[in-house]
Amino acid sequence: MSEEKDDKKAVEPEDLKIEDLPGVGPKTAEKLIDAGFTDLMALATAPVAEVASAADIGDATARKIVNEARSRLNMNFLTGIELMEKNKTMGYITTGSKELDNLLGGKGIETQSITEFFGAFGSGKTQAGLQLAVNVQLPKSQGGLDGDVVWIDTENTFRARRVEELARHRGLDPKEVLSRIHVARAFSTDHQMLLAEKIPDLIEKDKRPIKLIVVDSLTSLFRAEYVGRGTLADRQQKLNKHLHLLQRLADRYNIAVFVTNQVIARPDVFFGDPTTAAGGHVIGHGCTYRIYLRKSRGDKRIARLIDSPCLPDGECIFRVTEKGIED
Ligand SMILES: Nc1ncnc2c1ncn2[C@@H]1O[C@H](COP(=O)(O)OP(=O)(O)OP(=O)(O)O)[C@@H](O)[C@H]1O
Ligand SMILES: [Mg+2]
Repeated sequence: MSEEKDDKKAVEPEDLKIEDLPGVGPKTAEKLIDAGFTDLMALATAPVAEVASAADIGDATARKIVNEARSRLNMNFLTGIELMEKNKTMGYITTGSKELDNLLGGKGIETQSITEFFGAFGSGKTQAGLQLAVNVQLPKSQGGLDGDVVWIDTENTFRARRVEELARHRGLDPKEVLSRIHVARAFSTDHQMLLAEKIPDLIEKDKRPIKLIVVDSLTSLFRAEYVGRGTLADRQQKLNKHLHLLQRLADRYNIAVFVTNQVIARPDVFFGDPTTAAGGHVIGHGCTYRIYLRKSRGDKRIARLIDSPCLPDGECIFRVTEKGIED
């Protein structure tokens, strides 16, 4: 711990390279980048032991690097007052169901957060995303944010016709609603990540008031591309990076992020529900709100809030009908 404290310059943290960290020479940098630690955020959020083994360095050195990355990214303490101020600027988008909104804390999904809906085929994940893409365009008085949407589509399931139908039911002009949803089809995980990186251009260059980002689905391309255990660590690192980028966008531009995820069968569970969200712990830690959706009778769906940092776990019932998400 010597001169490191003084050489911090007033650069945007996003522009810092891992080589700028003390203790990261060209050789170490190369090894780290090879292992997927391509930016400060990846290092700041990595377990020390992983960094150590990736770069063939001792734990003490690795810890120094990780700590320095954290401090450069200002991942320090905020006072309670500062947090309250941050919360005051939060916006909310109604899901269309009062019950579901209540499960999420009262007003629907919130900005500066990532909300994940996971569940089996037909459980209503895409429908919820489409409904939010319409509702975000409503004025604040009606549960929206008068905002535009970025929709990253990995499964080719975005349906303009369905959006028109949902818009009409909300009394909105369908064409106008569609013109405010910016849809991009992602063809690979790299492409998916690149699309997320382009979002600041839409906001800053094209001056679009983006208030919602939908990634439907977050995990399908990752699961398809990384098959087999050998590449699991790579996949998780990349997914982690993607989630961190989404969180940064959410914070920086006060945007709500909504992601969908499939469930995978767990052969080790004999009693209870033998399914779990794909993507493992990376997603569990990366998302603020996780909702597990299950089909019930007819158009009924059961939503369960899981492991929320600030809300009680709970369940509710809503419906997916022709009009959209309803109580
Ligand atoms: N126009 C409509 N009217 C009534 N219900 C509809 C309509 N469109 C879709 N649904 C309901 O939504 C279900 C599909 O839900 P959705 O596409 O959101 O599933 P998902 O969770 O995204 O599944 P997947 O994992 O396959 O992507 C249909 O089975 C149907 O019950
Ligand atoms: Mg879907």
